Amino acid sequence: MNPAPIGVFDSGLGGLSVLREIRALLPHESVLYLADSKYAPYGEKPEKFVEARTLQACEWLIAQGCKALVIACNTATGHAVELLRKQLPLPIIGVEPGLKPAAAASRSKVVGVLATANTLKSAKFARLLASLDGESRFICEAGLGLVSLIEQGDIDGPAVRERLDTYLTPMLEAGADTLVLGCTHYPFLSGTIRAMVGDQLALVDTGSAIARQLARKLAEHKLAAAPDATPHDRFASTKDAAHLRAMAATLLQVEADAETVVIEPAPAL
Ligand code: DGL
Repeated sequence: MNPAPIGVFDSGLGGLSVLREIRALLPHESVLYLADSKYAPYGEKPEKFVEARTLQACEWLIAQGCKALVIACNTATGHAVELLRKQLPLPIIGVEPGLKPAAAASRSKVVGVLATANTLKSAKFARLLASLDGESRFICEAGLGLVSLIEQGDIDGPAVRERLDTYLTPMLEAGADTLVLGCTHYPFLSGTIRAMVGDQLALVDTGSAIARQLARKLAEHKLAAAPDATPHDRFASTKDAAHLRAMAATLLQVEADAETVVIEPAPAL
């Protein structure tokens, strides 16, 4: 039995949608959540920056005593997970857009994919698409601007709706009946998307699958906390603890104990 925390990392607030599922499945595990909000969005940054910054963030989480890491960011996983698995000595759970479950669920076999520009550009995503060749037609759109709006706490304002309308219209016109939320920030837009498109699109997000994968890895590596352990969660932001605290209260209905932390960029960044 291991009481150490699980490190959950995202460029910002999006990983809170994954944390919500981890909390539901593994209520006795402690979590240290790190939001690199000072440098979000990652989806529109140079790929090398995303890779190096993700490695730095994970090294910080390990230095805080984490026993396993969840990279709760599709963009960071897409560009850095292979490097992390080579360099870091602990179980690492990454995320990827849920194309497989979406293709299986779609009746029209036309699936919309909303993800960051960097996720859509990554070699990992190209391999995922290729592995599903013939399963469905995927209409991919980069959700430019959405992460910045969500970081500010805007999940249903006119700017969000205008952008969603731009990205979802071509998918609906192509006959999509399923939408992959390929960025962990986007589940916070589920209510707005639902209000805009009704039941024309079934929404696929992989938060609960990630939590199950984490549970499997903890069991496999004998790292699970005791079933009667009392969890102690910590929330850290590289930008503004008060904002993270407020967002955790708004988005998760959680009273978070949050701190602002400094993780200096590596000299080359
Ligand atoms: N939550 C991140 C993801 O899943 C957002 C990336 C960003 O910062 O643009 O891709």
